Amino acid sequence: MNKIGIFFGSSTGNTTVAAEKIAAQLGNADLHDVGEGVSSADFEGYDYLILGTSTWGCGDLQDDWETTLPELQKADLSGKTVALFGLGDSSSYSDTFVSAMGKIYDVLKQKDVSLVGQVDSSDYSYDDSEALVNGKFVGLALDEDNESSKTDERIKGWVESIRESMK
Ligand SMILES: Cc1cc2nc3c(=O)[nH]c(=O)nc-3n(C[C@H](O)[C@H](O)[C@H](O)COP(=O)(O)O)c2cc1C
Repeated sequence: MNKIGIFFGSSTGNTTVAAEKIAAQLGNADLHDVGEGVSSADFEGYDYLILGTSTWGCGDLQDDWETTLPELQKADLSGKTVALFGLGDSSSYSDTFVSAMGKIYDVLKQKDVSLVGQVDSSDYSYDDSEALVNGKFVGLALDEDNESSKTDERIKGWVESIRESMK
């Protein structure tokens, strides 16, 4: 079975917990906190990548991703399969809900990768997001601030939707 690399950035722990749940559900994934330092070679070491970020400021990347995104930009990701997940607050930050996921997507869309795990946005209540493409979120959106009771079910359904693409 091929290994999957989950790379996540988290400021108060919510994205860490989500990454751990995704890893547990997949069963064959390595976890990397981008705050511990990640290089382009680390991304290149996996055929399958799952990238997770929370959103801060007003639609900004989580801090550790600010320094890590240039490494992703430099990496040769040709032929890789990639999925995204993002944590946000759809009530207090309704105009920029999970927008940081869109910033990672902007790097990926210039690359020869196959993006999987886009999510229908109709299950969420928010005003706007940079992570929307053709009416879908570019990855799994999670809201621990307002909808934590939905998180486990959302993760379960999403992991099942990407599993076949990652083996
Ligand atoms: C100061 C501040 C700014 C935030 N800005 C946004 C935002 O623009 N969009 C959003 O969806 N969530 C925003 N959030 C919510 C966080 O992304 C959310 O709480 C997330 O679960 C934090 O995950 P982490 O603990 O992994 O960093 C903000 C939270 C705070 C405290």
